[in-house]
Amino acid sequence: MKNLQRFREFVARFTALVDAHGADEPRIFADGEPLLRELILHDDWLPDECAVPSPESYRQYLLHCDPLERFSVVSFVWGPGQRTPIHDHTVWGMVGVMRGAERCEEYADPLRGESLACRGTHLVEPGGIDRVSPTVGDVHVVSNALADRPSVSIHVYGANIGAVRRHVFDPASGAPRDFVSGYHNAVVPNFWDRADDVRRSIAA
Ligand code: FE2
Repeated sequence: MKNLQRFREFVARFTALVDAHGADEPRIFADGEPLLRELILHDDWLPDECAVPSPESYRQYLLHCDPLERFSVVSFVWGPGQRTPIHDHTVWGMVGVMRGAERCEEYADPLRGESLACRGTHLVEPGGIDRVSPTVGDVHVVSNALADRPSVSIHVYGANIGAVRRHVFDPASGAPRDFVSGYHNAVVPNFWDRADDVRRSIAA
């Protein structure tokens, strides 16, 4: 039985944070990161269907989208050896690793006509959180750091990220190409069935 209450509480707290400080990116990072860390340090709530890898490519499952599209929460599932292209986000984002490990390669803002040089690589392990945005650094490559098993990370973005027009970049020329990621699930998991809680309260 998954601990769905944990995710409901995360969504409630993050919604309150965005209500209060939605336009204040430093505040969202500062106050949102502890919420995300608490979520990823307790790996007892993610529905199994949102942790299924694919041999084709990494998977991005939508877990929750704010009704006003001020933020969204997704699970990323990486099979062994899988990686993203060089890409941006155009909005703030926090990437928290929950299972396995991810490798992040950072890039400076691409200049058209110039090849892209990786300016640093780091490993993110369970409980670790990376930040991205046009302000703090928005271009990277993320890959599964493990060769023999999947990794899973939980991401929060300042928009309905699957519907954001963003870019992938050609490493040789820096040329951008528009892309919209979408989601790999057509149905969002039900974190909202609290009937058993209510029945227990009635019986008590
Ligand atoms: Fe990314």
